[in-house]
Amino acid sequence: MVQLIQLSDTHLMAQEDGILYDREPCATLEQIMERVRERFPRVRMAVLTGDLTQDGEPEAYRLLERTLAPFRCPVYALPGNHDDPDMMAKELTGSPVRVARSVIMSGWNIIFLNSAVPGEPGGHLTEDELNRLDELLKERGDMPALIALHHHPVPIDSAWMDAIALDNPEDFFTVIDRHLHVKGVIFGHVHQSVDQDRGPVRFLGAPSTLSQFQPRTDEPVPSDVAPGYRWLTLHPDGRIETGVEYLDGEEEQSNQREMKDKVPQQEPTGDATSDESSKENDSVQNSTRGESA
Ligand SMILES: [Fe+2]
Repeated sequence: MVQLIQLSDTHLMAQEDGILYDREPCATLEQIMERVRERFPRVRMAVLTGDLTQDGEPEAYRLLERTLAPFRCPVYALPGNHDDPDMMAKELTGSPVRVARSVIMSGWNIIFLNSAVPGEPGGHLTEDELNRLDELLKERGDMPALIALHHHPVPIDSAWMDAIALDNPEDFFTVIDRHLHVKGVIFGHVHQSVDQDRGPVRFLGAPSTLSQFQPRTDEPVPSDVAPGYRWLTLHPDGRIETGVEYLDGEEEQSNQREMKDKVPQQEPTGDATSDESSKENDSVQNSTRGESA
């Protein structure tokens, strides 16, 4: 079983006390981490699904590493439209945040994609990236797979946000539809919780650790929903349990699925700082910052 935390759209700034959307991104991230430590003391890994920083500044990436250091477990990061991938590669040292392509953990094949497009708020998966995804799914055909990317591949019924979604979702679906062991897709960018099914695959969006947008609006409308995060429990049989928790104590549990109405128990044994069964293949990808969300 893998206990995973998805943190998204942290939007850290170069200054620790910088303010964005009337909040301090670093402070809300620290509060989220405190909550995660209380709730999931043996979390095995965290995934940052893009927009790690607001402007891609080196100081902001260094601040991110310092802030997440107490996690004591691997943190895998992929770029969003606000990030600078070259800067990410340079500044994120793996202690604990690393830019990775994929990792195998406790029998799950977890794949990180780069959907960022230089200078654009919307996303795209290049042919190379899609081919890499296809190969990784083929090579590890005996494992349930979870795919992470920044941009949402499914519409969320917000006109402005859907205009800056992944622009080639059909290409993505063509690949994942070939591989029945794909169980879930997690994404950021939307600054709100999303939980949709597309056939047997679950599409899950995370709230921002900083600020949310109101759902189902034609234009961007800030929401007063508190900063939040998503937790996922990946079971050996391919089941995904998941839910969202916000700093004000509000929670959204998995809906219409088995084992939806309780937070999973922690594993009785295990070491949050290591996983002997994990393998990873880190590398840097091309993309750059943009604007919006
Ligand atoms: Fe964002």
